[in-house]
Amino acid sequence: MRLTQEQQDMLDGKYGKGTAYAMKIQVAIGESFGAERMVPITRAHVALSNQEADLWFAEKLLNAGARCRVAPTVNPGFCLSFFQSRDMVSPEYADLMQRTHNAYKGLGAVLSYNCTPYIDTNVPNYGEIIAFSESSATPYVNSVWGARTNREGANSALCAAVTGFVPEYGLLLDENRKGNILVEVQAEMKNDYDYHMLGMMGKKIGNGIPVFTGLPKHISKEALRNLGAELNTSGAYGMYHIVGFTPEAPTLEAAFGGKEPERKVVITNDDLQEELKKISLEGNRQIDFAMFGCPHFTLEEVKHIAERIEGKKLRKEMWILTSSHVKEMAVRMGLDEIITQAGGFIVPDTCPDQPCWGHLNGKVGITESPKCAYYPQRRGIHFVIRDLDTCIEAALTGEVK
Ligand code: F3S
Repeated sequence: MRLTQEQQDMLDGKYGKGTAYAMKIQVAIGESFGAERMVPITRAHVALSNQEADLWFAEKLLNAGARCRVAPTVNPGFCLSFFQSRDMVSPEYADLMQRTHNAYKGLGAVLSYNCTPYIDTNVPNYGEIIAFSESSATPYVNSVWGARTNREGANSALCAAVTGFVPEYGLLLDENRKGNILVEVQAEMKNDYDYHMLGMMGKKIGNGIPVFTGLPKHISKEALRNLGAELNTSGAYGMYHIVGFTPEAPTLEAAFGGKEPERKVVITNDDLQEELKKISLEGNRQIDFAMFGCPHFTLEEVKHIAERIEGKKLRKEMWILTSSHVKEMAVRMGLDEIITQAGGFIVPDTCPDQPCWGHLNGKVGITESPKCAYYPQRRGIHFVIRDLDTCIEAALTGEVK
């Protein structure tokens, strides 16, 4: 790989050991993908996981003196003050979160603890070269905003934030951003939840860049968020196109770069129904709690829930996960008060795949997000998956029909 003098100096340690370490990793990644050079980035998002390996890496860079040149936003762990004040987290796990916080603070990250930065806190422009990790974030910034990032891991995105560069390969290059799978959606797409289910079709769609046709003219930001999150729960996708909607797919021909699709896939209502049967517990049962916000909910979604439950009492706990920005807006707008009075909680900075949910072990929840149902299984928490309004109704009555 050809390095500029500045990049070579980073590699040689002239900018300190931590930067040299990050650059060494990036050069190795670049060489393994056949990159010819490094290019500067203007933004980064690090999918920190608040788990041992992630913390080990962040502390290793920090202790070697690294500091981010491009301050990245970061993913949620769990909100220490919320869970500690309710005695819901052990000292061991509280310590892990505190150390994660300290490490990323020391590295100079933006401590946003939110997995949907592409909606309001770290939004790239068309064509910007960036380094984003996180399952829903990478496809959103590539596909919807037309920015350019590879599907970074938390560690490689952190290295990019430290050096300010990424190796140029993959989705950074025009020729690799064309679609190769035509996905004709015949299923009825009625609401944002249906895009969760469409995203769960990764096995049927197969590897590559899908080009969707047959979708409605208007698609909400929440639906696009859901689609990307689930494409990377059921498969591995850095990008997709929606013909006549996403910026690099004004026409079918443009989406495929003038080539024929390698594969054609049709998605029907039956496909979505069959998938739901595989990933959800059966309905017609009592539930113990409801959980929303994986990926983090928008203010509009929080408002929707508040309007549905205003003046009522929830029979079951309701956890709504979101960013601290949205939580603050919800407090100012009185939505938090409505939800709290009904017996629910708006929890900032927190992910369902965290050790703060120990009290839900062995319980059955309801959620509108297959991703929310997928990760906590390893913590002994299982879910019925339904559309949002059915979930809200279940939290009010205590059962799902
Ligand atoms: Fe976000 Fe955690 Fe879900 S990072 S997408 S809330 S698994």
